[in-house]
Amino acid sequence: MRIKVFTLFPDMLRPMLSQSILGRAIKNGLLEVDLINIRDYTLDRHRSTDDYPFGGGAGMVMAAQPIVDAIEANTRDFHGRRVYLSPRGRTLNQKIVEELAKEGELVLLCGHYEGVDQRALDSVIDEELSIGDYVLTGGELGALVVIDAVARLAPGVLGSDESSEDESFTTGLLEYPQYTRPADFRGQQVPEVLLGGNHADIVAWRREQSLQITLTRRPELLESAPLTDDDRAMLERLKTAAALKIPGERLDLKQADQFPKKWFNAFVPEDRRKEAKKQCFSGRRHVGHLWRAFTMGYIPATEGENAKDLWLQSDDEAALLYLPQEQLLYRVPMGADRPGCVLLTNEALTRAYMRTPDGREFYAEVSER
Ligand SMILES: C[S@@+](CC[C@H](N)C(=O)[O-])C[C@H]1O[C@@H](n2cnc3c(N)ncnc32)[C@H](O)[C@@H]1O
Repeated sequence: MRIKVFTLFPDMLRPMLSQSILGRAIKNGLLEVDLINIRDYTLDRHRSTDDYPFGGGAGMVMAAQPIVDAIEANTRDFHGRRVYLSPRGRTLNQKIVEELAKEGELVLLCGHYEGVDQRALDSVIDEELSIGDYVLTGGELGALVVIDAVARLAPGVLGSDESSEDESFTTGLLEYPQYTRPADFRGQQVPEVLLGGNHADIVAWRREQSLQITLTRRPELLESAPLTDDDRAMLERLKTAAALKIPGERLDLKQADQFPKKWFNAFVPEDRRKEAKKQCFSGRRHVGHLWRAFTMGYIPATEGENAKDLWLQSDDEAALLYLPQEQLLYRVPMGADRPGCVLLTNEALTRAYMRTPDGREFYAEVSER
């Protein structure tokens, strides 16, 4: 990828181009960025590049001559698209970045002050591009944004462990949450599904998270995202989730011990109860017993229909809901569930949802109070 940047302030770009992935790409010859100082093409002895606007108004306008001369002198054998960074332009997005990356060569013109004489744009510019609906002091930051986004798509620029294929926008959706070590950071756990090593479960979990985040933050992206039938079914469930929020309280697993001993029997299957009691009731009796049963794996990871076993109701006011994969525990007041509905979890056991008597499925999101 070859990029020529025309600017009055080349030193603004140099630090970014010498560091990290861009620096490495330039050093390895995968990316070539020429910084051309427009001031070097002025003809008057003051080397002035700007002047007052015809018709009056605040600020200065960059003159046409040094810009046109600079671009013409440096692009004789250069066939890439010539772009002026400008708030008036098409707003940059990943699709445009992909188009630009295919060009192989690119000219970027950075404006400053009030902008550039229109005749320069008419003479040597193919397109105006904006990096967002706000006004910067100059085009240099915009040029860096374009260089960075385009360069990382050029072959070899990203290492094998830095893929560009699975990211926000590339898939048409926003990206799922990422985690790295440690698995426990200040008591916040990495979702269990990511630690389990089951690739299909991980893919399904990530897809669901992507759909959820895109729906919440950028629903308009869903109109053009390539979606499967499964995605659409999932989206329908997610969309109706808000209608069925259960007023619940998220508990620390240790708080499970506030619940009476009978919860232990309710959660732990009969055939494992004797052994579980031996392990979990040792030491200070009744303190930590239910929590230990959760963490020592005596509470089975139930799937599908049986997951309704996880929805346990006490005789009095509360029900306890446990999602083993995420180790999430909720206390839900009685009466919050809907008559005739079956409470289920998804296969990854990371989310609870309800099946209504007419067979429709809704996420039963437990809202935190
Ligand atoms: C202060 S701005 C000029 C704004 C111009 N008077 C207008 O209202 O459209 C100076 C330069 O910053 C750059 N610039 C400002 N905002 C930008 C944006 N959102 N995207 C790309 N470049 C921008 C352009 O190169 C522009 O010539």
